[in-house]
Amino acid sequence: MNHSPSASSRVGSLLGTCPVVAVIRIDSAGRAVDLARTLVEAGLYALEITLRTPAACAAIERIRAEVPEANVGAGTVLNPHDLERVTRAGARFAIAPGCTGTLYRAAVDLPLPLVPGVATASEIMRGLEQGHECFKFFPAQAAGGAELLKAWSGPFPNARFIPTGGVTVDNAPRYLALANVMAVGGSWMVPEDAIAAGDWERIAGLARACQNLKQST
Ligand code: 3PG
Repeated sequence: MNHSPSASSRVGSLLGTCPVVAVIRIDSAGRAVDLARTLVEAGLYALEITLRTPAACAAIERIRAEVPEANVGAGTVLNPHDLERVTRAGARFAIAPGCTGTLYRAAVDLPLPLVPGVATASEIMRGLEQGHECFKFFPAQAAGGAELLKAWSGPFPNARFIPTGGVTVDNAPRYLALANVMAVGGSWMVPEDAIAAGDWERIAGLARACQNLKQST
């Protein structure tokens, strides 16, 4: 049996008091440390480093070592090899934009929770069948937004979601008002131009604004 039935509580405990996961694309592991410090000081603890740059795993490793208060995980995990390398880098969680049979199998007995991505009822049914109950809903806005999540609460009362993709500080409250939403994910508080410029003050302001977002339950 895999560890995933408790993934909601395991992921929930990584969020701290702010139900927001910062989705980060980073080109430099050094900058990732400064960024993580900025976010943690602003009260944002759950940091998803996407595997979209060569620096991603080094960034996870450095954040684990140098910003231990951050709950750093990996995003854009696409296959068992990705899962293996982010586990080795010290990721505390792994998030996938979708999921496959091989990825579900690779997640069994892993020390970190996998949050598989879903966008359809059939994908949720497949995940539930595998013992998962905590899903990334991706791409949230494009796939149907808060209305779709609301509709899923009927047939899937135990499923919990982290909508990501097109979520903003303005539309996040609509998601967080739903009982089946445990957090939202997004990159709006970590704009790439601000990271490139080392504009930590701007990022701190955007991250602090996330503190006003509250989960309904
Ligand atoms: C993701 O990988 O989850 C998304 O690219 C983040 O989406 P956003 O940039 O629209 O917040």
